[in-house]
Amino acid sequence: MIKLTIEKTFEFISRASVAAYKQRATDALRSLENGTGKGNDFLGWLHLPSSLTPEFLSELKQTAQRLRDNCEVVVVAGIGGSYLGARAVIESLSNSFGIYETERHGSPLILYAGHNISEDYLYELTSYLKTKTFGVINISKSGTTTETALAFRLLKRQCEEQRGKEMAKQVIVAITDAKKGAARITADKEGYTSYIIPDNIGGRFSVLTPVGLLPIAVAGLDIEALVGGAREMEVACGVHVPFEENPAAIYAAVRNELYKQGKKIEILVNYNPKLHYVSEWWKQLYGESEGKEHKGIFPAAVDFSTDLHSMGQWIQDGERSIFETVVSIEQTNHALTIPSDEENLDGLNFLAGKHVDEVNKMAELGTQLAHIDGGVPNIHISLPRLNERYIGQLLYFFEIACGISGYILGVNPFDQPGVEAYKKNMFALLDKPGYEEETKRLRTRLS
Ligand code: PA5
Repeated sequence: MIKLTIEKTFEFISRASVAAYKQRATDALRSLENGTGKGNDFLGWLHLPSSLTPEFLSELKQTAQRLRDNCEVVVVAGIGGSYLGARAVIESLSNSFGIYETERHGSPLILYAGHNISEDYLYELTSYLKTKTFGVINISKSGTTTETALAFRLLKRQCEEQRGKEMAKQVIVAITDAKKGAARITADKEGYTSYIIPDNIGGRFSVLTPVGLLPIAVAGLDIEALVGGAREMEVACGVHVPFEENPAAIYAAVRNELYKQGKKIEILVNYNPKLHYVSEWWKQLYGESEGKEHKGIFPAAVDFSTDLHSMGQWIQDGERSIFETVVSIEQTNHALTIPSDEENLDGLNFLAGKHVDEVNKMAELGTQLAHIDGGVPNIHISLPRLNERYIGQLLYFFEIACGISGYILGVNPFDQPGVEAYKKNMFALLDKPGYEEETKRLRTRLS
């Protein structure tokens, strides 16, 4: 199992202050379980792992296999919660250099679109795809998100032109609302295989729905093991587990106490670049869930030791408003030892015979000690190794801890009213019908 350690926060907050959260964390967990808290119409993720059937997973795998059989490249079109979970899992469990291999061996290259509005990105992507047999997984809960809809419009046309309407129908899959939105209308009209994003699961909690599971299966990863891991964590963090033994409740309590003591920024740290998108997913989960009513810890992330050479100075010595949560991998999946060198020009013979990971682990330990000395509390989460099971545990752990933490903070962790503000302005500035008044108001403001 993954393991949470909070010992290294006790130079900054007391054990008693964390224990004092027992009632609030327990109440928060009960509210989640009983559906009595804010946003209770968005709790479909809570018992999702244990409710996914082998039949459903097997059907998803069949669709994934069709894409694997017929595509060199599969583009996942989605933004925010509609792509970050899939990307987090795929990038953490895939070969870092697999993207450069031209021989795919039945495993399509997974690319992403619909998560930006960059003309250069879309031009380069569509140009690259010109010589490829490609498919698309179009993911949008609302079915109307501009970034995703725009990318899908381009990709759908290109796929049909390159592969013909019939084949396009085989290799385009939609994951969207059951009834509403343009993505649903298109999927039904074109006869695409489609999956429903349940009404009661918000985007950032949707990684274990087809939103995450289908792309992950297309990448050739073991979705049963991923869901199995999440299921183990569903039990380990359940409502009947006492506060002291419940890692999600403890994590929620510690971060709220640190926040109360002025630690307004949480930095998620990894020592393995494969976890970069796990951090991106985590940032959205916590940022969108807690950042409201002018409250909430700011979720940031760094990849160490890379970012020790850029952000290290600030973290060690800047304003003391931060704490770190380190996601650490105990055992590597590959072995590589450092060779001895006769000339020893680089002076590294003292490391000869050691595994590279021993150096990484000492960097981690040294950094932890230095940061504690520098006033940065340290929460530690260790994964025995990088595989589907432990990543599944980690994802569910962060989800349920987020629900508990948001309730302790006193916000609704399941809405995101603030995300609409930029969209309204963008539509008005683009003269979208229906926004005429807003257009006039903004033009006056800008003139
Ligand atoms: O978590 C969320 O709700 C958001 O990040 C959405 O996932 C994101 O805005 C994409 O929305 P949609 O799936 O409706 O296209």
